[in-house]
Amino acid sequence: MKIAELEKLLKDMSLSEKIEQLVQLHGGFFGHIDTYTGPVVDLKLTPDQPYRTGSVLGEHGAAHLKDLQDRMMEKQPHHIPALFMADVIHGYKTGFPVPIAIGSTFDPELAEKITSAAAKEAAAAGVHVAFSPMIDLARDSRWGRCMESTGEDPWLNARMAESLVKGFQGDDFGKKGKMASCIKHFAAYGAVQGGRDYNVAELSEHTLFEDYLVSYRAAVKAGVSMVMTAFNTIDRQPCTTNKRLLRDILREDMGFDGVVISDYAAISESVTHGSSNDNGDAAKKSIEAGCDIDMVSECYLQNLEALVNDGEVPERLIDEAVMRILVLKNKLGLFENPYKDASEEDEKEYHFCEEHRKLSREAAEESTVLLKNNGVLPLCEKQKIAVVGSLADDNEITGSWALFVDKSQTVTLKRAIEELYPNADVTFVPSDEITENMLAAAEKADVVILALGENQTESGESFSKADISLSKSHTELFNAVYGVNKNIVTVLFGGRPLAFPELAEKTNALIEAWLPGSCGCYALADILFGNVNPSGRLSMSMPYCSGQLPLSYAAFSTGRPKPKTDGFYPFISNYMDVPNVPLYPFGYGLSYSEVKYSAVSLDKNVLKNNSKIKASVTLENKSDRSVKEAVQLYIRDIKGSVVRPLRELKGLQKVSLEAGEKRTVTFEITEYMLRFYDINMQFVSEPGDFTLWIGHDSLTENGADFSLEK
Ligand code: BGC
Repeated sequence: MKIAELEKLLKDMSLSEKIEQLVQLHGGFFGHIDTYTGPVVDLKLTPDQPYRTGSVLGEHGAAHLKDLQDRMMEKQPHHIPALFMADVIHGYKTGFPVPIAIGSTFDPELAEKITSAAAKEAAAAGVHVAFSPMIDLARDSRWGRCMESTGEDPWLNARMAESLVKGFQGDDFGKKGKMASCIKHFAAYGAVQGGRDYNVAELSEHTLFEDYLVSYRAAVKAGVSMVMTAFNTIDRQPCTTNKRLLRDILREDMGFDGVVISDYAAISESVTHGSSNDNGDAAKKSIEAGCDIDMVSECYLQNLEALVNDGEVPERLIDEAVMRILVLKNKLGLFENPYKDASEEDEKEYHFCEEHRKLSREAAEESTVLLKNNGVLPLCEKQKIAVVGSLADDNEITGSWALFVDKSQTVTLKRAIEELYPNADVTFVPSDEITENMLAAAEKADVVILALGENQTESGESFSKADISLSKSHTELFNAVYGVNKNIVTVLFGGRPLAFPELAEKTNALIEAWLPGSCGCYALADILFGNVNPSGRLSMSMPYCSGQLPLSYAAFSTGRPKPKTDGFYPFISNYMDVPNVPLYPFGYGLSYSEVKYSAVSLDKNVLKNNSKIKASVTLENKSDRSVKEAVQLYIRDIKGSVVRPLRELKGLQKVSLEAGEKRTVTFEITEYMLRFYDINMQFVSEPGDFTLWIGHDSLTENGADFSLEK
């Protein structure tokens, strides 16, 4: 449709009809019992009302959605097609590694392929909008939703956000196999206090703009269609009713012109937060703030009409919101083809197809992080191996937001080893119970693979923990095995960095496998047996203990920085009982190859406004196998009008090196990369001295100095 036609349609609609477009209900209102992601409430609707609403949450399946679309269009006075939105977080039918693992690939191009595959599957099932990616910065692993984030770093999150959005939407999400993407949760949901989900966020203006908004800005620039608000408060105001956040920052400053949707019942929760008097007040504040769709609450449906009729809310605000929704429907091509890509044949062809399963495996090859290796890895098929721990044969390692994935198809570590290495001498004891049988198997083995950590029910929405230590039972299991066999390879599953300093000290090798999706354990088995060279890097720091949280490598000097040597220093900014730094830092991860970095060379040391500095290193793969290396560029602004982080990631290149290959990697340093929010909250660079480092992880000391002149 042409815009003029949409405008004509809008003019023709009654007020109640327009308000119905601003409401989203889940399948429960249509008589379907499916997965609810929030409280189920009675919204006091007439029997026909659900069918006239503008969008539906969580319904899926080509045949079902074609039928539902028919029924909705029939009841909608102008036969406007409905939008079908769903949480397609790390895959639709094929489960990919969870987002924290996608972050650990350090490979935005791979991330794009993942959402592109997910879009193909979900679009075939009739879904129009993915409530994904979640691009909240996560620096606190107590927060169960860090599993859904690509990690602790603003720059990496921004690159991942762009790629994940592009994978869903392509250049034109009206095309076959593409869908609209909705980033979430705006804003700073990852900063909830104490890591407790739904809690308030307290952060400075600088932290908000400098760290938490960066990924949203990047996704908006990449053309994302929708933004979902967050449950938390910012500046003591719930995000969903926060006019400054949604209008001034998102729409005005970032230039977002798409659709804003509340999170599940978040408009009405502003009443429970204590900043709206009642649902009517919440509706008024929310529409004024620029939130277009009310997800599963009665606020808009039961209050907006009276608010407009009483002159409390200008009808113009309703019209603007409806227009944005109509424009989105139009861009999806729904006025011409209300089913879009829904097709039972395509479902058969694409769902859990070989190509996507292969991609799921490839993603895990790059997201699995080798944290320690005393030489025990890779294993050899001739060794006597014991695989111990219930997580070694538990398909609840797919990830809790894989809502539509058939978890019974998830490949476990046991199955992967049996299928891929049938000749290996392996005894499986997939149990956490410390029994004589288990200890005997461990004792007899040359090496024990111990599967520990958390399954998918221990992270995700609402699953926060105050203590992120490895569980007592898994610590006891480790110690029992260690008592009979010290040659242990620990494989950790889970959606958050856990704390396990003693285990890390004792184990001979340590692998962070995250929640690797449907086929990720094939990759894990290949890494264990050396057929894949691991290349994943930590997207979040691994702390020593919960008390260090929140934690990031991009910390500040403080007035009393700790010297580099170990130990406690009185009257210095440090802890008596643990180091300031994490056990394993952001960007860290080993491979089976030694990759040597040359010193950094700069083509010049002074950057003038429009010039560029070329910073290069030469890498050499000293091993006899190929390797993928995530080459990381960090920069420190030595002095600023406000304090600056000790270092910040500013560039990344994941390169493949053949055995023995030497390769020069070059980064261009521009003035724009040095910009930050200065003392007046202006996004500028300040002349002065800088250090850059190019190396393997956030601890690299491979640096060079330069200055910016204006
Ligand atoms: C979550 C969102 C999700 C929504 C719809 C909420 O509880 O916070 O991330 O998209 O439910 O399922």
